[in-house]
Amino acid sequence: LSHPSFALAIALLLPMQPARADEGAQLAATCTGCHGTNGITVGDALPSLAGQPKAALLASLKAFKSGERSATVMTQIAKGYSDEQIERIAAFFAAQKSQPKAGTTGASGAIRDPAAAGASAVPPGAGS
Ligand code: HEC
Repeated sequence: LSHPSFALAIALLLPMQPARADEGAQLAATCTGCHGTNGITVGDALPSLAGQPKAALLASLKAFKSGERSATVMTQIAKGYSDEQIERIAAFFAAQKSQPKAGTTGASGAIRDPAAAGASAVPPGAGS
C-alpha cells in the first residue's frame, strides 16, 4: 500500500524541471505562485526575486523570519524554512535571470489580476 518507491516517484515527478531539479529549485517552487515563474513577477504588485543579490534575498528572508521586517505573508512563510533552506532558496533566485524569457510568463498568471495591473499606474503617494 504505502510502497516507498511510489512516494519517491511522486516526489520526482512534481518539480517538472528536467535539468537541475536541485533542492533550491524545489524549495523555490513554493514561492513562484506569488513571485512568478523563476521569481519574475509581472507588474508592481509583488517584488521580483530573480536576479536580486543572494545577500539581499537572505537579508530579507531572515528579517521576515525574525519579525524585524514587517510583512503581510512573508513572516509566516519564512518561518517555515530552516536557515539552510533559506540559503538554498536565496541562491536559486539569485541565479535566475531577471528578464522574462519568451514563453515563461504563463504560470505567473495566478497572481496577476486586473486590479493589481491597474494599481501599477497609480503614482506613489496617491490615496495615502
Ligand atoms: C502567498 C504569496 C507569497 C508566497 C507564497 C511567497 N511570497 Fe514572498 N512576498 C509576498 C509578499 C506579499 C511580499 C511583500 C511583503 C509582504 O507583505 O509580506 C513578499 C516579499 C518577499 C521578499 C522581499 C523582496 C523585496 O525585494 O523586498 C522576498 C525576498 C520574498 N518575498 C521571498 C519569498 C520566498 C523565498 C518565498 C518562498 C519560500 C516566497 N517569498 C513566497 C508574497 C508571497
